[in-house]
Amino acid sequence: MIARLRHLALLLPVSLALGGPLAVAAPPTPDAKALYERDCVKCHQSEIFTRPDRIIHSLPALAARVRWCETNTGQQWTDQEIAAVTTYLNDNFYHFRP
Ligand code: HEC
Repeated sequence: MIARLRHLALLLPVSLALGGPLAVAAPPTPDAKALYERDCVKCHQSEIFTRPDRIIHSLPALAARVRWCETNTGQQWTDQEIAAVTTYLNDNFYHFRP
């Protein structure tokens, strides 16, 4: 019995590896800084992210705000571009922990 279980444990990772989805090529990583500088600094400079009474207090709120500002200014960013700019703003200004 125990020997048979050990056998299963050995086979399981192999069958998962064989049956798993084929890897798809990842889309190119968006250039967050370029996007931000192209579409976001028309209305506010980066001081808005560090102002004492800033309105964003969490990473999900930051992502939602990036999407809000982006759609309301007529851009059509992909989810990857939203995520990249959210990370860019968090790394440089907000420093929230995920
Ligand atoms: C049409 C003008 C306009 C553009 C363009 C714009 N925003 Fe904004 N954004 C605003 C305004 C106005 C506020 C402040 C809202 C408030 O104080 O209630 C704001 C606030 C923010 C905040 C919150 C700041 C805080 O207090 O913590 C973030 C983050 C932000 N914008 C990101 C972006 C990003 C990313 C882009 C580029 C896609 C962008 N904005 C483009 C008008 C704009």
